[in-house]
This record gives sequence, C-alpha cells and structure tokens, in this order.
Amino acid sequence: MKFDVKKLTLDEKLHLLTGADLWRTYGANGKIPQVFLSDGPNGLRMHAEDGSTKKATAMPTISVVANTWNPALSYLDGATIAEDCIEHGADVLLAPGVNIKRTPLNGRNFEYFSEDPFLAGTMAKAYIDGVQSKHVGTSLKHFCVNNREYDRFYQTSELDERALREIYCRPFEIAVKAQPWTVMCSYNPVNGVYASENKYLLKEILRDEFGFEGLIVSDWEAVHQSYKAVKATLDLRMPYSEKAYPELKAAYEKGLLTEEEIDYCVQNVLNLVEKKVQADQKKKETLTKEERHANAVEIAKEGIVLLKNEGVLPLKKGKVAVIGEFSESPTLGGGGSAYVQTDFKQKFLSDLIAEREGYSVQHEYCLGGREHGTALKKGYAIAYEADTVVISVGTCKEVECEGYDRTTIRLTPIMENFILETAKINPNVVVCLHAGSAVDMSAWVDEVKAVVSVGYAGEGTNEALSAILVGEVSPSGKLTETFPLSLDDTYTGEETGNGLVEWYSDGIFVGYRYYDKAQADVQFPFGHGLSYANFVYSDLKIKQCGESEFEVSYQIENTSEVDAKEVSQVYVKQVFPMVVRPEKELKGFSKDLIKAGEKKTVTVKLDFRSFAYYNTAYRRWHAENGPYEIYVGASSRDLRLCGKVTLSLDDATQQSKW
Ligand code: BGC
Repeated sequence: MKFDVKKLTLDEKLHLLTGADLWRTYGANGKIPQVFLSDGPNGLRMHAEDGSTKKATAMPTISVVANTWNPALSYLDGATIAEDCIEHGADVLLAPGVNIKRTPLNGRNFEYFSEDPFLAGTMAKAYIDGVQSKHVGTSLKHFCVNNREYDRFYQTSELDERALREIYCRPFEIAVKAQPWTVMCSYNPVNGVYASENKYLLKEILRDEFGFEGLIVSDWEAVHQSYKAVKATLDLRMPYSEKAYPELKAAYEKGLLTEEEIDYCVQNVLNLVEKKVQADQKKKETLTKEERHANAVEIAKEGIVLLKNEGVLPLKKGKVAVIGEFSESPTLGGGGSAYVQTDFKQKFLSDLIAEREGYSVQHEYCLGGREHGTALKKGYAIAYEADTVVISVGTCKEVECEGYDRTTIRLTPIMENFILETAKINPNVVVCLHAGSAVDMSAWVDEVKAVVSVGYAGEGTNEALSAILVGEVSPSGKLTETFPLSLDDTYTGEETGNGLVEWYSDGIFVGYRYYDKAQADVQFPFGHGLSYANFVYSDLKIKQCGESEFEVSYQIENTSEVDAKEVSQVYVKQVFPMVVRPEKELKGFSKDLIKAGEKKTVTVKLDFRSFAYYNTAYRRWHAENGPYEIYVGASSRDLRLCGKVTLSLDDATQQSKW
C-alpha cells in the first residue's frame, strides 16, 4: 500500500498536519492508519487510556548510557526500549535527546548525552540504530539550541554561526546519519525565530545539508502559527491543536501558503504512516521482561563512574555500613516526560552486598527523606563500628526535572554535613552519588576515600553498583561532562540579560573547551573515570590513508591482575589556526576489554571533519593546511601520547561540499 498525497482532499491534507489527540496522528475516519508516538528516552513512557502511565523497563538515563562511552551499549539500550514499545503499541519513541550540556544547572541534563558534540552524536546514532533495528521509529530531539529549561518556550537562544554549527547542530548532524524516522524541533526561538518556524534550521540545515529524509514533528505545543511552521517544512504539529486547521485554511486562501508547500509536509506524514504499516509486519518481541532488566543492569555497570579511590574499593571483606535512603530506593530517572514507571522492585544495596561472601552489613536508610536526629544518630553509630562506610546521597526527580533548572549543584547541607561528620569517625568513607548532572563536592571530597558517580542508573542501579563495589566488575565509565569545582567556575557570561534572550556569548567554548581556554582547575575533567586495573599507553602510530584520512593506533597494556575495560580518547589540536579554535577537541574514542596482563592495539580513525571548523566566510567546513597535534588520553586532562600530522590539501579539498 502506498499513501499518496494526490489521493487526499485539501481538507484531509490540512487535518493531517496536526495530531488527532495527544499522541496519535490523524486517521481521516479510518482512511489512514494512525501512528502512535510516545516518550522516551530513558525507557518507554506511555499514557494508558485511563491517564495512568504504563509500566516499562526503567533503563539507565541517557546521561549514564553516555558515560559508558560504548556505542554498542547505546544500541542495546535502544533495542531494549523498542521491545517495550512493541509490547505496548508505540510506533515512534520520542527519543533520543542530543542537546549539549552547556550548564550543569539544566533540569534535563539527565536526558542528554554530553557537553561534547562528537560524543553525543556518536552515542545517539547508535541508540537510534538500536531502536530502529526493531522496526520502531525514533524522534531525535530537541532541534535546536535548547540547553536549559528556564523560560524554554519563549527565550531566544542567540548565538553565532560557528557555535551553532560546531557545537549545537553537530550532534544532530552525526545522529541524522542513522535516518531517525522523525526529528523534533525545540520550543525556543533560535536567533529570534521559533525553532518550529525556522526554515534555515529545518529546511536548509537539517534537510538540505544533513540529508534528513524523515518527518519533522513539533515539540508538544511548540508551534505558534501553523502556516509559518509548514512554510519552514515542519510537517506535524503535536499534539492536536484546534487552531491548526482554520489557520492553515485561512493562510491557503489568502495565498500565504501554497498547495505545494502543504503537499510537501503531508507527503512526509504519509511516508511516516507507510513506515509504520511496513514495520508492523516485521515487528516481534524477542526479549522477556527479565532479559530487558538484565540489559538495564549491564548498561548501568558500564555507565557508573569511579571518580576517586584511595585504596578502599573494591570493598574489603569485613564490616560494611550502608547508609542513605538512596541505597534503598535510588533515583531511577529524572522528572518530566522522560520519567519511566517500572514495576521492578529494587533490591536494597545492603542486601546485595551481604549476599556476597565475607561481608557483614549493617544499614540505616537515613538521609534523603528520613533526616531526623534519631535516624542520623543511628547512621553515625553503625559508621563508627564499621570497617568501611558506603554513603549514598544525591538528587531526586523533583530536583532534576523537565520544566525548570536546578538552583544549586551542591547536595543538601544535611547530606554534606553527614558526610563530613562521618569522615571524622571513620577513615574509610565511600560516597555513592546519585545525580543526573555534575555535583559540586568541594565541601567534602577531600575528606572521603572514594567517590562513585552512579548517576540515575535505572531499575538495575543497585545490582550494578553492588557488583562494582565488591569488585566483580571493574568500573569502566567515564564522565561525559566536566564536574567543575563549583558553580562559580562554570561559564556564566552575559546571559539571560532581560529574560527574552539567552546570549551564548561563550561561543564554541562549551564544557572542557571552556575550562581549557580559561586554564581553570576542575574537580573531575571531561573523560575522567578510574578503574581497578592499571593501563599503560604506548607506541603511538599515525598512518595516512587518504588526503585527510588517518588511522591513529596505539597500544594499551593492562599491567594489573584485573580484567577491565578502558576508554581511550583521541583529541585534535590545530597548531596555527587562522581563527579562534579550542585547545583540543575530541575526535575519536574507543572502549576495549583488556584482560589482566594483556597488551592491545587500539585503532581510531580520523577524517576531514576531525580537522575542520565551520568557516563563516565560505559557509563551508574548512580544514586548513598545516600541522595538527594528535593526543591520546585517558581523560581530557590526562593525555598520555602525542603525535603530529600535517595537512596539505589543494584549495578545493580544504572545503567541504556544504
Ligand atoms: C518535551 C518532549 C516530549 C514531549 C511529549 C515535551 O514537553 O519537551 O521531550 O517528547 O513533551 O511528551
């Protein structure tokens, strides 16, 4: 069956350009099959008929998936969520979100991958491939330049062209290569024009340059004037709006909108319908509920990041005190449209540790909710008796939530104080941090022996965390956003001046690009994460394979007695640029299992885009001739190897097609 725009009346066509209700496309009285769209990205969030939320697998949030630095796990995450979509009848998962983490305050950082566009795009592409491999569609969102929640409906993100291209559009450009079925526009205006009406963004950049072939859907209520959205090639206004039809009809009659423009969008809606119909014939569930849960645990195991460890982890056999409500009921995900309702009953961290041989565990679930004196006192009492104390602290879904931003990146004073006081009575304190974005730990980090960043790791949190704490699994996650010393150290330039505009005066200097330029100390740098193993990097070789293609290879030796995975990172720096460029930029990475005593050769590929910046005079990507330094690191501030390449391209090949 082929759905052809020519077979529809004008009225039917105009109705198709907005939804039938909150989640479904228009069905033209049964003539056209309806497509059901439902949230993501941390699992399926689907409304049931009675308004309740259906139960689904609470996967680790995207921020934790990103910390795995393992595209295969991002793919697995997508494929697992797709199974829940098939079970409940969702055709398109409204995910993944790939917006850049410009500030740790952003209420939705837990839904996003990284402060780095290459990493965010690469992980998102794998996620889309995973979902779509199961014949469920995706919606890459929120296009574009939506980097915090404050006044997200109205405030213009005003930025220069290089920041737009190199930082904010770049993850979309990479992820679009997976051809998500849909892309969702953001709420905010970009440079004064709503994203939903922004032809430059939607048509010229997303469709013409990035080669996006699918449907563009509005974020829910992001369209202000339907005809302007259609003119910008936004195909589907969601959810149903009673204003859409009369607005479109009037605009057509006044000659503000041509039938050709209408047909273009309608055909994209019909193509989505066609995809759904075809997919329905191929869909099948292959994973049991238990297998989906096991995948959630596996991803969490690689997404948890060991930030600090002074010899206390893995936990030694003996008496362990497990303290904090988060160890009983960790925050599985942040709040808002991404919140997943699971019926999985979380196992207590204390029980999971006690199940292993040689540990005698006492617990007190104070902190979080139970902060009264009696509970805290009991906490101190068991901490005093124990060999090691594991304190779980963090933020909850009411603190990190869609719709508003955090006001602080510190823990509550009671949590900070409890950590400090416990460190005075027991020298072996391990802090497990449950948060969706960076936390300022300057008040207590020097007083404790270990810090584990758990993130919002989904329904498998405690299973994954316990396996890491006791050393069954060596931690292998690394940070995908910088943890600054404090909020004062983040870029707070001249922004949000009058409440109408957020001026991106930091330009391309976002995340580590900013801290590098400012030569600022940070608490934990981008790319940082410790292991129970020890890795030695050596033998950097760079082989030229094409005019601007290179193979960077190096060896990593695991000199410990523990099998472990290591994330190695390749950064590129232009030595004498004609324009301002970051100190270095991530252009490749690899995650490899290296067994105890083994030495492995790792190869990472670089291409034209690894060297290019967006040249606003040419309106093209431009790789200048001359020397570039190539760094291989265990983090952005732990560079182990350095090599050089020189580009000598002819004039034409120095510029991209676009
Ligand atoms: C969010 C989207 C979400 C949509 C549907 C919006 O408020 O920004 O991410 O997909 O609602 O729930």
